[in-house]
Amino acid sequence: MKIEGIGSEAGWSSFFPVDSVQEIARKNPEVVPERYVRNKEDRAGDDLLPHLSPQIPVIDLFLLTSGDERELNKLDLACQEWGFFQIINHSISAEVLQKMKFTAREFFHLPLEDKMKYFKAQDDVQGYNPSPAISGQQKLDWADMLILQVYPTLSRKENYWPTIIPYFTEVIEEYSKEASRLSQQLLSVFSKLLGLQCEELLKMHCELLQVLRMNYYPTCPTPEKVIGVSPHADTGTLTLLFQEDDAINGLQIRHSGGWVPIRPRPNALFVNIGDVVEVLSNGRYKSVEHRALTNEKKERISIATFICPQEDVEIEPLSSTTYGDMKPKYIKFRYGDYLNYYWTRRLDGKAPTNLELIKIQA
Ligand code: OGA
Ligand code: NI
Repeated sequence: MKIEGIGSEAGWSSFFPVDSVQEIARKNPEVVPERYVRNKEDRAGDDLLPHLSPQIPVIDLFLLTSGDERELNKLDLACQEWGFFQIINHSISAEVLQKMKFTAREFFHLPLEDKMKYFKAQDDVQGYNPSPAISGQQKLDWADMLILQVYPTLSRKENYWPTIIPYFTEVIEEYSKEASRLSQQLLSVFSKLLGLQCEELLKMHCELLQVLRMNYYPTCPTPEKVIGVSPHADTGTLTLLFQEDDAINGLQIRHSGGWVPIRPRPNALFVNIGDVVEVLSNGRYKSVEHRALTNEKKERISIATFICPQEDVEIEPLSSTTYGDMKPKYIKFRYGDYLNYYWTRRLDGKAPTNLELIKIQA
């Protein structure tokens, strides 16, 4: 079915470059340009819920993959209530994570002229991106990023891979392989939870698309006036995220009508459910809205891996979630169309979640 308002012509090509925030903060650390200063109603307010942080679910992958029923139930609840969890015993070694952190830091600390060699083209999304904007008036996020599609291997655009760092490709390969393995393990557990054979969710994606995004949040003299990453939900299937320094807070998720700060566990990974899983599960699992704030003293670097279906894949609630009186709550859509629509709206500063568009009105 074609979705009203979603067209393949919108999307990537609408990006245009703006200045590197890292460079703005370096040149004039005391001043925040007007373009980044949020209107009062868009700033982080008094709806913080730090007392809920300790309740954020922690899932042990080893127990999960050993078939531990309690852990499986815990995951089921985590996805229903939070759409977010931290994962421990994930078997990605501390050394692999460490190398990835080091490499991300190396990249952002290259001189600007070196980073600019990997600057994204006008009609592209991959490459070195200072925060993208679509209109002249839109407020901007206090972050720069490097975006690379890693899998399928053939889809890589190697001109954006910073080979100026000699070990860059090797480190990305090593981490991404592990992240892919972990995602496939999670997909097979989700298959089971959603009443499918264990390989089924993976097969549904055809070939998994895996995108790496390194985010750099410079320090800010007035962190209360800016936002690192505006509130949004991730469109894909799953997002894995970890940060370079576990001691810095920044990521917050929407819960109980407010924002709950995430306190990272050392070497844990964050997992958030994306829109695709919310639809496949017919709303049982929540695609969580989240944002990132900055701070005055320390720069923050995070490394996100987005696991998504191929653009041509059609997504709709699984038949295992729509039997009896459980009617489908979302229409069927082509993932690529949804993605384009998402970016058009997001860059326009519109609503943080887009599922409203494909929800079937009760
Ligand atoms: C993202 C994201 C949050 C963070 O990259 O989609 O939500 O903590 N990042 O960097
Ligand atoms: Ni996100």
